[in-house]
Amino acid sequence: MDAKNRIENVLHSALSRATNYKCPPKLAEALNYAVFPGGARIRPKLCLAVACANGDINPELTDSACAAIEMLHCASLAHDDLPCFDNADERRGKPSLHIAFGEQIALLAGDALIVHAFETVALSINEAHAQGLIEKRMPEMLTILSTSVGAPSGISAGQAWECEETADISTYHKTKTGSLFVAATCSGALTSGASFEEWKPLGQYIGEAYQIADDILDATAPAGSIGKPVRQDASANSPNIVAQRGIEWSIQHLKYLIGQATMAVPDCPGRDWLRDLIIEEANQFIPSEKENSSGEVPAEIDSQLVIKQRLSTFDDAFKSRGILA
Ligand code: IPE
Ligand code: IPE
Ligand code: MG
Ligand code: MG
Repeated sequence: MDAKNRIENVLHSALSRATNYKCPPKLAEALNYAVFPGGARIRPKLCLAVACANGDINPELTDSACAAIEMLHCASLAHDDLPCFDNADERRGKPSLHIAFGEQIALLAGDALIVHAFETVALSINEAHAQGLIEKRMPEMLTILSTSVGAPSGISAGQAWECEETADISTYHKTKTGSLFVAATCSGALTSGASFEEWKPLGQYIGEAYQIADDILDATAPAGSIGKPVRQDASANSPNIVAQRGIEWSIQHLKYLIGQATMAVPDCPGRDWLRDLIIEEANQFIPSEKENSSGEVPAEIDSQLVIKQRLSTFDDAFKSRGILA
């Protein structure tokens, strides 16, 4: 099974537990709507890549970490689009959750996804225990995930910086976005028995770079081209790197962070493979020099194209190593 299908399958099986016949129908529909079809799935793919680079010795646990991380991400998008945050009416090329289902259901679906993410991991760890596997990974996995979405350094804190008079942009990016990338690298390492602390810097660099790329897209992409509203940062007056430092500086900083990320890959059996994969992936979200000078975003960084490119890069990379059949 390729990486893309593996992630989709684990998400379908996790969601099917939450949306069975006992679930209120609107909530069940909204949960599926929030998760399928997906976007880039970049976070679970990063988690899977790190696990594979470390041997992926507990695939069921890796699967549950991937599903949990993507559910947490989808929840953060549902909440981020609400009128009290970015008031965005489009997400992944379709009406955002509260437009389709109303604010009450959107809020509850986000909450349910967060709780279900933890339940998914807890169930898979119980299963592993029943098979006599894994000693202290349950508390560690729960710590990694909860740190990435709570306070003081997870998504909740990150989004809360928008409510302050001033915010340090790097702290804001690290908390609202970098934190879940850290969860991806650390949990991927943990499921395969590696020392997860060493994998934090990699997640931090990629996550911060990813948010800078998103800020650049928000500031420069033509309306209607990225499946979500553009100029959101300016209209909501959210801290954003382009407004603070300009487009040229932002692109240079993005490149710097990606360079740091490639150097931050810890020693592991699949280190070279993972580093090459990160370079290939990251190159796809660096705006070209052409865009740098004209201020226009070229067609090749249209996010829908980027999404397709990212998926194919990951799948080709996994297949070429024979890591996934
Ligand atoms: C959007 O993340 C929010 C950011 C933190 C930039 P993605 O660009 O990964 O969103 P999807 O999952 O592909 O839609
Ligand atoms: C979203 O940040 C980060 C989250 C924690 C959801 P943005 O508000 O910049 O992301 P988009 O542009 O709406 O995807
Ligand atoms: Mg936002
Ligand atoms: Mg937003």
